Order: sequence, then C-alpha cells, then structure tokens
Amino acid sequence: RNGTSMASVASLSASLQQRVSAALAAAVPSATGADPLLRRSDRADFQANGVLGLAKRQKADPRVLAAEVAAALPTAGGAGADGDDTIAAVEVSGPGFLNITVSDAAITRNLAARAADDRLGVPLKEHPGTTVVDYAQPNVAKEMHVGHLRSSVIGDAIVKILEFGGEQVVRRHHIGDWGTQFGMLVQYLIEHPHELDHSEDEGDTGEASMSRLDRTYKASGALFRSDEAFKERARRRVVDLQAGDPETVALWQRFVDESKIYFDSVYRKLDIEIRDEDIVGESGYNDMLVETCDLLEKSGVAVWSNGALCVFFDDIKGKDGEPVPLIVRKTDGGFGYAATDLSAIRNRTGDLHADTLLYVVDVRQSLHFRMVFETARRAGWLTDEVTARHLPFGTLLGKDGKPFKTRAGESVKLEDLLDEAVQRATAVVREKGEKIGLTEEEITANGVQVGIGAVKYADLSTSLGRDYVFDLDRMVSLNGDTSVYVQYAYARTRSIFRKAGEGQRAVAHPELPLEAAERALGLHLDAFGDTLAEVAGVYEPHRLASYLFHLASLFTTFYEQCPVLTADGGPAQVENRLFLCDVTARTLRQGLWLLGIRAPERL
Ligand code: ARG
Repeated sequence: RNGTSMASVASLSASLQQRVSAALAAAVPSATGADPLLRRSDRADFQANGVLGLAKRQKADPRVLAAEVAAALPTAGGAGADGDDTIAAVEVSGPGFLNITVSDAAITRNLAARAADDRLGVPLKEHPGTTVVDYAQPNVAKEMHVGHLRSSVIGDAIVKILEFGGEQVVRRHHIGDWGTQFGMLVQYLIEHPHELDHSEDEGDTGEASMSRLDRTYKASGALFRSDEAFKERARRRVVDLQAGDPETVALWQRFVDESKIYFDSVYRKLDIEIRDEDIVGESGYNDMLVETCDLLEKSGVAVWSNGALCVFFDDIKGKDGEPVPLIVRKTDGGFGYAATDLSAIRNRTGDLHADTLLYVVDVRQSLHFRMVFETARRAGWLTDEVTARHLPFGTLLGKDGKPFKTRAGESVKLEDLLDEAVQRATAVVREKGEKIGLTEEEITANGVQVGIGAVKYADLSTSLGRDYVFDLDRMVSLNGDTSVYVQYAYARTRSIFRKAGEGQRAVAHPELPLEAAERALGLHLDAFGDTLAEVAGVYEPHRLASYLFHLASLFTTFYEQCPVLTADGGPAQVENRLFLCDVTARTLRQGLWLLGIRAPERL
C-alpha cells in the first residue's frame, strides 16, 4: 500500500493523507516500506502511530525517534520545505505519536484540483482486472423475495463502485431457470395449453404475469403431488428439456419470458438496470454439465457414492459425524445447482478470463459456495491467480426480530414493500415540499427517489453479513443515518446556488484561512477517492454509505456555523464557501449514484 501512495505523490489526485504519508516515509529513510499508520484524528488533522513499531524494531526510544521524525518533516516555512506548505505543524504526543496539522491552503488547493476534474480526482486503478459479479438472481416462475432485493441492491452498488474504479466488470444474473420443476411446468402447459394466455382483464403488467405464473405453479404442483401418472410424464419432460427437444424448450421459454416481464417491472421500480445480455441463468450452462461431471470423475475429484456423483471434504461433516458431500450428479442422473455453478466457474475463468469472481448471495448458501470453490480448486478451474468470494448477506427481519413476513405469516411481496416505502416517503416529502412550494409532480417524483433510496440505503448501510430490521419509520426519518438525510444535504447545496443567482461564482481561494467546520468538511471531501479505493478493495458498500452520512453531517455543521452568501469575510470568502458547497454537492451526488440512489434537486 505504501508503494502505491508513494507513486501517486506527485499526481493531482493524491489526497492530503497520501501526501503526508509520503512525506513521513521520506523523512525516515531507514523505515523503507514501513507503514506510517496515518489516520484522521480529532486531536490534529492526522495522527501517525508508525513510529512506535519502528522504535521497537530499531531498539530506540519512541519519543526521541518521534521528535527526530518531526524535525525532519518539511513544515510550512520551516527547514527543507522547499515551497511545500502541505504540513503546517507537527507535535509529538503520548508515547511517541505524531500529531500532524496540514495547512488551510493545502486543503483548498487539493480540493480545487479535485473540482477541476469530472471524476473529482478519484484515480483509476493502475492495474484493472476482470471481475464477474453474480447478483440479482431471482427464480423463474416464482415470486421474488426480500433476499433477491438484497442481492440486487448490494450487487448493483458493487458493480458501480468497481466500474468507477476502472475495473472490467462482467455482470451475471444467475437466474433459477432450470431444474426438475420445469418438467412439471412444461408438462402442465402441454396438457393445459391456455394456462399462460394473457386475458384482457389481467393486462400486461408485471403483477399480472406473476399471478399467471403463480397460478400455473400451484396448479401443476398440486397435480404433481396427487397424480402419479402426471408425475411420471413430468419426469420424462425434464429429460426432454435437458436434451434440448425443440417443443419442450419453446414452452420452457414461455415461462422465462413471462417471468422476465415480472422481473423487469420489479427492477424498474427498484431503479436497477438489468441488461438482457447479462442474464445467463442456470440453463445457460446446460451444455457444459456432462463434461463438467466427466472431468470431475476422471480426475478423481468426484466419486460415485450411493448412486450419486459426489465430492467429499475432510472438514465438512453433518450433525451425525457423517461427511456431507457436494452432489454434482444425482441418483436419477439429473444435474443440480452445484453442477451448474461449477460449470459457470469454468466459463467465467476459462472463457471470460476473470481474475475475481464475486457472488452476492444469502448467507444461508455459504456451505454451498465453500464446497463449490474447493471443488473448483481441486479440479484446477480456480487457480492461485483467481480470487473467488462469496459475499454473504444476512436476513431481513421484521420488527419482532424474526425473518420479515406479512402479518399472515407469508413472505412479503417485493413490489408491495417498495410501494409502501414510496408511500411513506411521499408523506414525509410532502410536508416540507408544500412549504417550499413544490408542485404535486415534484412531490411525487421526490417520493419515489426518497422511498427507493431509503430501502437501498438501509440495505447498504448495514455491514453485509448482518441481519437488519426492516423499519420504514426509521428508514425515512429525516434525522439519523438515512438516505433522506444525505439527500437533504444535497438539496440544501442546490438551494444555496439557486439563492446565489447568476452573478455569484464558486471559486477556490487558497489564500483564505479556514474555520474549523470548513477544514473538517474539506478534509473529509479530500478523502473521497481513498474511501472508494478502500470500498472497492474489500467489497463493503456500507463504508461508502457511512462516508456519505458523515459528509452530510459535516456539511450541516458547516452550514450552521459558516454563512455562505452573507459571509463576513467579503466576496472572496463567499466564493470560497460556494466552492466548498459545490465540491460537497458533486461528491454527495456521485457517492449516492454509486449506491444506486438518486439525489433530488429540491427537497
Ligand atoms: N437463484 C438463487 C436463489 O434464489 C441464487 C443464485 C445465486 N448464484 C449462484 N451462482 N448460485 O437462491
């Protein structure tokens, strides 16, 4: 990490934290490669703790060493500064910490460089790779549930963040469109040919599609359970489907198409773009299944056990102490979920040349992915050059702390949940909106952006693995860690510019001293690129959410303490504060966009 921060010292995009880090490294030539452990701090702007470890290794007194480092650092006007006035003051504290304050001018200059760039000075990755993100994978002919919501929202944010950093991203929607249930569905459709017909009164909405599918699913399931002869015909139909029989495939396709109408309507509501070419469901790997199993068998990675082709693991056992295998081919000759996922890995590493595979999937599938990855490693489809990560997410809970259900105990329909969020958000937006004279149209549009934003933000602001409670009241609250709080901060910046009018410009004035609230805001703005690099490295969007929330609160403090248009320091100070508002606005909007959340101009 040190290496990269050193390399970017001279570049426009280096943050103050990187510049100070580099200065520290240069001040202690004997510490080559050691991390100065520089952090933002409340005491000064930054605190460096790296001297402690260095002193230990060099058997030196940490306070003495710290003082030496402090003396060697170029400070404004001091020795060795060479016109570099980044660091204003250094002070030794505690057992050998360094408290470092940067100059006001350095903050403003750094922000000015960011403002001049439409990427806000966020650098592109030096060596981008190819990452396949497997997310938003609902199941054909079935209702989407809250788990699909989480996968979609988190996956969409990760895709956007990685792409913004310059990574080559391949999106994969591994929808559940294959398996024995399709034998049953297709057979039922053959015997009840009008089942999926679009009747006039139902229309062509996503909801109508889902209700047709649901009806067919239930009816065929009932028949499957009660009628042995139908069951047998359904079983034979699966074989036809897997063999690619044209009539069977055409009927199967009707289920897929009908489902896509429904998925589309939910994703449109969710404001998430799903491109058709990225939908490669389980069926997309059908042609590889036989070969995948053959390769596993020939290499000895999989063995036949009780009539099924299995992979065993020393450390994976059931409650009874018996090994739990990964079943790649079932006793009846059918292929399951695991064979499909293994084939998908072969495709993603072998054909798409991905070096990173990410799976945004419910934590309950952790064991599945552990076994699949291990199998793929043994088979050589995952090598040391490839990272495969399951990014497991937790369960959405109701207020009672149990998995989120309707009062009747049924799983909640995603569309109902989104509609309710929009409804609540609209009520919140209306209250303020009427005061600032928004039209009914604007209130409606804002309600959608705030409501959908609230659902996404609640999802993204919780660290991935954790369960969280779906609480709409909290999610649309104006005070608290919510998207609407962040959206308000953005709208406030816009309103300042509307009030400022044409004549006023946003101009950076590095010669002006900054107030405490301006410095805090400026330093945080300057850390946007560092935050994004970190988020992209660990795949944790909640860090971006918390960055944005913090930014919104720092802006609120700034707004309360530093009048913008009536600044008493004269026209230059007005321009400089407008400049801070402008960089804040752009950072908030870009950051929210990366989380898939829109920012209304007037709220
Ligand atoms: N369709 C699955 C489900 O609804 C999720 C698929 C996850 N992706 C994968 N490659 N297995 O649970």
